[in-house]
Amino acid sequence: MTKQTATLQLPGQEAIELPIIKGSAGNDVIDISKLGAAGYFTYDPGFLATASCESAITYIDGDKGILQHRGYPIDQLAEKSDYLEVCFLLLNGHLPDKDDFNKFHHVVLHHTMIHEQLAKLYQGFRRDSHPMAIMCGVVGALSAFYHDSLDITNEQHREIAAYRLISKMPTLAAMSYKYSNGQPFIYPDNKLSYAGNFLKMMFAVPCEDYVVNPVLERAMDKIFILHADHEQNASTSTVRLAGSSGANPFACIAAGIASLWGPAHGGANEACLNMLEQIETVENIPEFIRKAKDKNDPFRLMGFGHRVYKNHDPRATVMRNACHEVLNDLKIDDPLLDVARELERIALEDPYFIEKKLYPNVDFYSGIILKAMGIPKSMFTVIFAVSRTAGWISHWKEMLDQPGQRIGRPRQLYTGEVDLHFDPVDDRCS
Ligand code: CMC
Repeated sequence: MTKQTATLQLPGQEAIELPIIKGSAGNDVIDISKLGAAGYFTYDPGFLATASCESAITYIDGDKGILQHRGYPIDQLAEKSDYLEVCFLLLNGHLPDKDDFNKFHHVVLHHTMIHEQLAKLYQGFRRDSHPMAIMCGVVGALSAFYHDSLDITNEQHREIAAYRLISKMPTLAAMSYKYSNGQPFIYPDNKLSYAGNFLKMMFAVPCEDYVVNPVLERAMDKIFILHADHEQNASTSTVRLAGSSGANPFACIAAGIASLWGPAHGGANEACLNMLEQIETVENIPEFIRKAKDKNDPFRLMGFGHRVYKNHDPRATVMRNACHEVLNDLKIDDPLLDVARELERIALEDPYFIEKKLYPNVDFYSGIILKAMGIPKSMFTVIFAVSRTAGWISHWKEMLDQPGQRIGRPRQLYTGEVDLHFDPVDDRCS
């Protein structure tokens, strides 16, 4: 088959043939790596049309609202699988057989404890620290505890680090919550499922028995599945960029957590609930819609819009159903939900949102469901980080497994001064 090329005519030069590379699905890409030699870089702030890597983990078609992990549609995984099976799939590229399924569950669920010395690290934080701030610190600190899995050139080390991170993230996350409210840390319970164990570490206290509510356990597991991976988003790209320099996996995941924290990314679920509280009543919605549409007002409707999905967010559809299930089961009647439902209805009918293709995203519903489950707002993004760890570490492993991997080093369009003459401070005119 003849290779397709794109022809680029630069001023004063001969035309350059740029190879077109085809993926298995989605947009083809133009290989522009030769351009540097011709004295040009490409300019694409925010990576609107730039593929930064080759990956076989997650496929998204934003126009059709498709999200697939290793070829499996997200709605099927959310309905029929569990989070740890999805982790196996992301990491290994295929579904486990029964034996692998049991082994993977056993390994992850039996490495949930953390080093006691790491627990002491929490005492160094203020009690009112945001749990995401604690997570940035303690996850990075894992590299000070697991020296035996830091050789990134060793495939076995890479795998152990991946298992450790997936196993220990719920423990670290629940501890960040317990620390903030002054309750004792609850040790993991290996008899429980991944989601059940997390709920117990969050909500149990030593003086009382704790029984995991199966509806909440299933909902928590679904939340984990729906956030497990999302191809080259800001935090995953951050993990890849950090990892491209050869940094250790724990440091790379800590970098991903920092990137996730922002309100335009993983912080949107917390920001969305803050916004619903600020709107307060259905009567106030038109004023907030007006603000969201005003070009001179920085306000945005949190939980609406997505860089990639321009039809609907398939995760939001699953989350919306799960949200209704949980609310019905818990018989929750929350006025904020009326605000959320009405906001969703108005925004979906408003020409501004229709024209700009702004739909409720996964975080619009995840905030509501987490609130109904009794999870405090400050933990929403932490829970996102727990689930996304599987995606981050799968991308990190995939990158290191690829031959010819190079340090990520973007170029720039320089717009500053050049060739100024330096005068010592005393000689400068004020
Ligand atoms: N409310 C009001 N207007 C919006 C919103 C919004 N939530 N999102 C985008 N717009 C407008 C924006 O002002 C712009 O208008 P114009 O064309 O007139 O300049 C247009 O829509 C395109 O917006 P953009 O900022 O160029 O789009 P983007 O792809 O760079 O940003 C986004 C995507 C998700 C950051 C943005 O939609 C947003 O800030 N949403 C709210 C935060 C949010 O919910 N984030 C969670 C995303 S899902 C979880 C995850 O994967 O992290």
